[in-house]
Amino acid sequence: MPKERLSVVVTRRLPEVVETRMKELFDVSLRDDDTPMTRSELIEALQEADVLVPTLTDTIDANLIAAAGDRLKLIANYGAGVDHIDVESARQRGVLVANTPGVLTDDTADMTMALLLAVTRRIPEGLAVMKTGGWNGWAPTAFLGGRIGGRRLGILGMGRIGQAVARRARAFGMQIHYHNRRRLRPEIEDALEATYWESLDQMVARMDVLSINCPHTPSTFHLMNARRLKLLKPDAVLINTSRGEVIDENALVRMLKAGEIAGAGLDVYEHGYDANPVLRELENVVMLPHMGSATHEARTEMGEKVIINIKTFDDGHRPPDLVVPAML
Ligand code: DGY
Repeated sequence: MPKERLSVVVTRRLPEVVETRMKELFDVSLRDDDTPMTRSELIEALQEADVLVPTLTDTIDANLIAAAGDRLKLIANYGAGVDHIDVESARQRGVLVANTPGVLTDDTADMTMALLLAVTRRIPEGLAVMKTGGWNGWAPTAFLGGRIGGRRLGILGMGRIGQAVARRARAFGMQIHYHNRRRLRPEIEDALEATYWESLDQMVARMDVLSINCPHTPSTFHLMNARRLKLLKPDAVLINTSRGEVIDENALVRMLKAGEIAGAGLDVYEHGYDANPVLRELENVVMLPHMGSATHEARTEMGEKVIINIKTFDDGHRPPDLVVPAML
C-alpha cells in the first residue's frame, strides 16, 4: 500500500516553482492570499497538519504549539531566522524545527553593502534629485559623501552572513573588525584579515561603520541598547540587515535626530513593519522593507531547503537544517 502523504500547511504564498514541487510531493495546503494567517487560521491549520511551513511573519509561540493537534511533528520554517518560533516549547512537545540557512547569505551581505554605500554616498538624495528633474549639473561640492575604503567596519555577529559581509567589505578596502560569541578559527581570521574584539563596547567605540549581523535571541535583544549606542563615534554609521530587536530603536532614533551618529541603513525594525515613523523623516537614514534576501534565487532556494527538510523527515531521517535550542 502506498505511504500516506504528509499533510503540510504553508502559511504564506511561496514562489510558484516551490509550490508546484510541494504539490507533487505532499498533501499540501497553500495560501491563496499573500497575507499572513490570522491566529485563529493558524490554530485551525495546526489541527490536521503533520508539518507547518511558517515564515517570519507568523508568531509560533508556546500557546500556539500547545494548541496544535497531535499530528504536528515538524515546523519547517521558510527562512533562516527562527526568533518567531518558540523552539524550546516545540522541543518539549516533540516537534522538530528546521530552517533554511546558507542560501540567503550572499544576498543579505550584498544588501548590507548596498545600504552602507547608500548611506555614505547619499544615493537616495541623488536618486530623488534625478527623479524630480531637479539636477542642474555637476558641481564640485554637490552630494559629497564619505569614502568607505580605509574605514573601520565592525561586524557584530560573525556567522555566515557576517563573514560574507567581511569578504565584500575587504574588497572595498575596509578594515575588518568583529565581535562574536566565539572567536573565529585563526585561518578564517587571517583570510578575512579580521581583528577580533572580545569587548563589544570597545569595538563599538572605535568603528566608523557598525554592521549588525547576529540573530535575534534572548541574549541579543537590545544588545545595542541606549548605553552602547552612545559609545558610537559621532561620525559612525550603523547598518542593520539582521533583526530590528537587536537595537533599541527609540534610542537610535533619538541619536540620529540629535546628530549623535552620522547615519543608519536599516532593512529591519524592532516592531516588524511598524518602524518608528520618525525614521522616515530623517535625512541620514536609508530604510528598506526587509528585502535582504529578496532575490528570485534566494527565495527559490529557501523553498528547496524547506522541501528537503520535510522530505528527509518523511523518509525517517533527521532534517539537515534542524534547529536545536542550544544553538540559539
Ligand atoms: C530570514 O530568513 O530570517 C530572513 O530575515 C528573511 O529575509
